[in-house]
Amino acid sequence: MYHEIDLDKVSLSQGPPQEEPGRQYYFMAECRQAVKELEGKLGRRPTFFAQTFGCQMNARDSEKLSGILTSVGYARADSEEADFVIYNTCTVRENANNKVWGRLGYLNAAKKRLPHMKIALCGCMMQEPEVIEKLKKSYPFVSLVFGTHNIYKFAELLSLALKQEEAVIDIWQETDKIVEDLPIERKYPFKSGVNIMFGCNNFCSYCIVPYVRGRERSRRPEDIIREIQDLAGDGVAEVMLLGQNVNSYGKNLDPPTTFADLLREVERVEGISRIRFMTSHPKDLSDELIEVMGASKKICRHLHLPLQSGSSRILKEMNRRYDKGQYLALVAKIRRAMPDIALTTDIIVGFPGETEEDFLETMDVVRKVGFESAFTFIYSKRTGTPAAAMEGQVPEDVVKERFGRLLEEVQRIAAEKAGAFTGRIEPVLVEEVNGQDPRLVTGRMGNNFVVHLPGNEGMVGKIFEVELKECRGFYFYGEVVGFSCIPILGGN
Ligand code: 5AD
Ligand code: SF4
Repeated sequence: MYHEIDLDKVSLSQGPPQEEPGRQYYFMAECRQAVKELEGKLGRRPTFFAQTFGCQMNARDSEKLSGILTSVGYARADSEEADFVIYNTCTVRENANNKVWGRLGYLNAAKKRLPHMKIALCGCMMQEPEVIEKLKKSYPFVSLVFGTHNIYKFAELLSLALKQEEAVIDIWQETDKIVEDLPIERKYPFKSGVNIMFGCNNFCSYCIVPYVRGRERSRRPEDIIREIQDLAGDGVAEVMLLGQNVNSYGKNLDPPTTFADLLREVERVEGISRIRFMTSHPKDLSDELIEVMGASKKICRHLHLPLQSGSSRILKEMNRRYDKGQYLALVAKIRRAMPDIALTTDIIVGFPGETEEDFLETMDVVRKVGFESAFTFIYSKRTGTPAAAMEGQVPEDVVKERFGRLLEEVQRIAAEKAGAFTGRIEPVLVEEVNGQDPRLVTGRMGNNFVVHLPGNEGMVGKIFEVELKECRGFYFYGEVVGFSCIPILGGN
C-alpha cells in the first residue's frame, strides 16, 4: 500500500524511471511543483472536483484519482467551480452517456468564468471510439482524456496536461498490468471497496462492459490481503470486495486460486467485522463459496445475484449460461444453507425479442425468489454488442408498461420482506448523519437494509444493536439498544 512517499524528496533531475509505481511517484512530484506554481499565481490553494458516474468499481477508481490529486496539492471542492474537474464516466446504458454530455455543456460555461480550469474525462465511456471522435470534434475545451486501462498512469497524464495547452488523449485497447501502491483517498473512514479483479470475460450479449473494461485480471491474494490489513489498521471495519464477476476470481493466477479461498483469508484479517462482495454471476457460484459464507462470522448475509431475465429462452439469447430452473435451484440451495440470507438482483426489461410470455417468466422468478431488493433496468442498445444487431427490438411503450408492472411487484415484495424484520434487534453499522434530518443517523444492517435512528456524528463508523421499530417500505426507523463489540457475531 502507498505509505506517504515524501514527494518533495523525489529527485526530478534524472528523468522518470521506467518501473511502476516509481514512475508515477516521479510524475506526482512533477505535478506537485506545477500545483505550487499555480497556487502562487492564484494566491490560494488550487481545488479539484471529481464526479463519479456508474458502479462501485468506478467509485473505487475515483478514490484513486482523488488520492493522486490530494497528494499533489489540490484541495477538494464540492462543486464544479474548481481548478481541475474530472468526470469518471460510465457507459453501461445510453442514459449514462447522456448525463456526461449534459454536464459537459455546463462545464463549458463554467470554464468561461474560470479560463485556467482543466477538464478531464476518464472511465468506461472513454473506451468507445465514437465518443473520442465526438470529443475531438465538438469539445475542444476538454484538456485530458484517458480510459479504464491506463488509470494508473493518471499522475503522468496529469503532469503533461498541466504543462501543455493541447488536449492530452490517451486510450488503450487493453492491458495486462495491475499497478499496486498508488495513493487512495477513501470517501468513508470506516468502510472501503477493495478491487480483487478487473474486467469481464462473460460477454453477455447486451453488455458493453467486456469491451470497455477488457479481459479478467485478478489481483494477487497477497496484495489484496496486505491492502485489507492496512485498511483495518486505519480503522476500516467493513470491506466490499469488488469485481465484475467475483466468482471467477483467481482462475488465471499462477498458482490458480478461488474466491472461496480468498474469502477465508480475508476473514482472518483482524479488525475487519464485515465482508461484502459484488458481483456474483450465478453460473460460477460454487458450493464451496456457499459453505464458506455459511460458516463465516463476518461475511454479510447478502448476495447480489443478477437474474437479468426469468425466461430460459431470453437467458440463452443473453448468453447468460444458466436457465430459469438452474437459477431457482441455485437460490434454493443458498437459502437451505443460509435461511436468513438477503438476495438482491438486477433485471433487464425489453431485451430484443422479449414477449409477454418471457416477461411473465421474469415476474414468476421474482415472486418465487422474493428478492429483498432488485435493480430494474430498461434494455439499452449498446453499439458493438451482439444484442444491438438482434431482430425484434421491443417498442418503447410495451417496455415501459412491463417495467412499471415489474417495479410495482419488486417493491411490494421488498416491503413484505423488510416488514418481517420489524421488532427485531439487529446490528447496524452507522454510516452517516442523515442528510435530511441532522437528529438522525443512517446505517446498514448486514443484509444491506437501511436504518435511520436518533443519534449523532460520534456514532459514525460504529456498530450498534438497534431495535427495528418501524418499517417504511425498504428502510427502517430504529432505536439503539446496545453497542456491539467488534467483531460482531453473525455478520448481519
Ligand atoms: N441495458 C440495460 N441494462 C444493462 N445492464 C448491463 N447492460 C445493460 C444494457 N445494455 C445491467 C445489467 C447488469 C447491470 C450492472 O446493468 O442488469 O447486471
Ligand atoms: Fe456485463 Fe455479463 Fe460481464 Fe456482468 S457478467 S459485466 S452483465 S458481460
